[in-house]
Amino acid sequence: MCEKTIQNPPNTIAIDGPAASGKSTIGNLIANKLGYISLDTGIMYRAVAFKAVQEDVDVLDGEAVSDLAEQISIDIRPSQEDDGRQFDVIIDGVDRSWDIRSPEVNQVVSEVSVYPRVRNAMTHLQREIAKNGKIVMIGRDIGTVVLPDAEMKIYLEASVQVRAQRRYIEELARGKKVCLDEIAESLRHRDEIDSGRAVAPLRPAEDAVVINTDDMTVFEVVEFVMDLINLR
Ligand code: DC
Repeated sequence: MCEKTIQNPPNTIAIDGPAASGKSTIGNLIANKLGYISLDTGIMYRAVAFKAVQEDVDVLDGEAVSDLAEQISIDIRPSQEDDGRQFDVIIDGVDRSWDIRSPEVNQVVSEVSVYPRVRNAMTHLQREIAKNGKIVMIGRDIGTVVLPDAEMKIYLEASVQVRAQRRYIEELARGKKVCLDEIAESLRHRDEIDSGRAVAPLRPAEDAVVINTDDMTVFEVVEFVMDLINLR
């Protein structure tokens, strides 16, 4: 199939949705097609969670976690590595691309993400990165809070079972020993905190296009979004 030239692509695209809904994979593919940069903002919250675990900071101590978030240095670059990562994530000068995906970080990242000072620090960095446009930004609150004026907003949803299955296959492919039920439980735990928090909860923006991907392949979702872009 030949690629069509897109006349007037949206300058900023927000892609939100729950854990393991395929946001990052789909957002990166769309960014590639448009020649845009992409930013998976979950990486930033994961970096703060990693730092808290590494420094043995109690994640229930909001002030201590917020201090970390305001001091941390996070550098995210497109990766040349062939080990399944999409980005190299350098935290305070050290490559932590896989450490931020550990079960220990999964366990606490949603707790860390509820604190207003943590969110302010990350939102500020995200808006700085987005200010030149031509960006696909991926997260939980991009369409609602970080970039409320984004020209296109997509919200991806899928059932916990489907998301757990996808994550399970990904982890097996990376040679990890994983349990499907534990993955599903961890996703439920994060969904609950991400949707229930007072500041910037996970929810679709009023003007977002909501796509349920339960019965769609990655290719189909990308085609659907590209059609939306073409039809603007
Ligand atoms: O997309 P992810 O699973 O890598 O995100 C990890 C956590 O980061 C998620 O459970 C909640 C938080 N997060 C957030 O609060 N706001 C965002 N824009 C992105 C992620």
